[in-house]
Amino acid sequence: MSDPDLVDLHCHFVPGVDDGARDVEEAMAQLIECERSGIRTVVTTPHLAASAARGPWRDGIEDAFAELAAVASRDCPAVTLGRSFEFRLDDPDADLSDRSIGLGDGGGLLVEFPMLAMPAYPDRMLDVVLAADWIPVLAHPERYAGIERAYGWIGAWREKGALMCVNAGSLWGEHGGEALRVARRMLGDGSVDLIASDNHARPSRAATVRQAWDYLKEAGCEEQATLLTAVNPAAVLSGSRLMGVPPCEPRSGWVDRLRRLVTGG
Ligand SMILES: [Fe+2]
Repeated sequence: MSDPDLVDLHCHFVPGVDDGARDVEEAMAQLIECERSGIRTVVTTPHLAASAARGPWRDGIEDAFAELAAVASRDCPAVTLGRSFEFRLDDPDADLSDRSIGLGDGGGLLVEFPMLAMPAYPDRMLDVVLAADWIPVLAHPERYAGIERAYGWIGAWREKGALMCVNAGSLWGEHGGEALRVARRMLGDGSVDLIASDNHARPSRAATVRQAWDYLKEAGCEEQATLLTAVNPAAVLSGSRLMGVPPCEPRSGWVDRLRRLVTGG
């Protein structure tokens, strides 16, 4: 089986607008690595708080993205670069009427809960997104503090129609033990819909979907790797139906082996 065209739906490459790439050079270093490693589509998703979405902050993002896109089209022609947002749900009256904030033309919107914590009202947080006729694509569900004890919410959110987009780095512990355990549990019961990088163009936050694909393949889950990092992300961008992802039961000891691959230790 040849390697698939990988798709990254979540990263922070727009220079100088959030805690991701600080300048065009840092962003281009990541995009060049994407091109080299077979990632063909990158949608960069700067943070945008619902409470700030009506302000002038967004104009700076669009200008910075245009500057990056001009350089990328010249120096990284094999990568299709798009812009969306990682929308922080910090305002129950969020204005979600602007259809240009979504992921491609597929009707999906990347969202996150504030403070990397389980929200006080987990049953209602995604309702505002659904009510505005978006498909919520929940960023890093495995990272919210308390999710391990409240694991049932992952199924409940999926029941509502939300998609679970796990961070690549969580697979090998980049975000700590709870995120690692929850990501593995989600893989094991087939409740991961997508994997994205959440690459921040910093040495400690530069995981890629290529690494995730390699590691899942190494773990004996090549079919799931392709669905999670290529087929389903492409479907989100085009508005096609996502494929069900079979449970991935990694071989015993795989996390330790993969951690050694990552760290060289
Ligand atoms: Fe992010």
